[in-house]
Amino acid sequence: MQLSYVEQLQPEGVAHAFILGKDFIANEPVCLILGDNIFYGNGLIEVLVRSAQLTTGGLVFGYQVKDPRAYGVIEFDADDKIIGIEEKPLLPKSKYVIPGIYFYDFQVVEIAISLRPSVRNELEITDVNLAYLSQGQLQVERLGRGYAWLDAGTHESLHQASNFIQTLEERQGLKIACIEEIAYNQGYIDANQLCQLIEPMAKSSYGHYLMTVLDS
Ligand code: G1P
Repeated sequence: MQLSYVEQLQPEGVAHAFILGKDFIANEPVCLILGDNIFYGNGLIEVLVRSAQLTTGGLVFGYQVKDPRAYGVIEFDADDKIIGIEEKPLLPKSKYVIPGIYFYDFQVVEIAISLRPSVRNELEITDVNLAYLSQGQLQVERLGRGYAWLDAGTHESLHQASNFIQTLEERQGLKIACIEEIAYNQGYIDANQLCQLIEPMAKSSYGHYLMTVLDS
């Protein structure tokens, strides 16, 4: 796996990523995920694989939270059709907010370039979504209560996310997002390669876990 990075030197907003990543995107559809967002749930992989097939327009998700005020909040009409999105409204029009995973077609770069900074002086992802919405090209798929979406952007929420993951891992004896396990189960690496990866961490609990993966 090869990962490459572009640094955003100033906090110029989520949508600024499309300007920084213009050459990487190169007129292809693209997915943006916020680094402090955690998604978990049975069937999530299928949702993401299907979403990644998008070739036109934009696709975002709607998720119910108790306090929507820190997010992009969806407004529905009487027929449950999306008619608006507001970024961090004081008086949210619904409890459905847009989590930090977004799928867009190539138009997203031009849309991001055309944006003006918001009052918090950022290029807002909500404004990207509104641009697609106004063109009738925004799909919003609801993520039901069976999925966990956690935002780990504050110390408190990071701690809560950490507890959630630890509880599940401990209960099931299975790790969440263990990259070596995923690569092995998907056939990206074979048993020999997994062994080599285990070697330097064989004495740690993580290494022990990977040995159970190898033996299963
Ligand atoms: C950003 C987006 C917001 C979205 C949220 C998801 O908020 O602006 O629309 O709902 O991520 O985590 P920020 O992290 O910039 O406060």
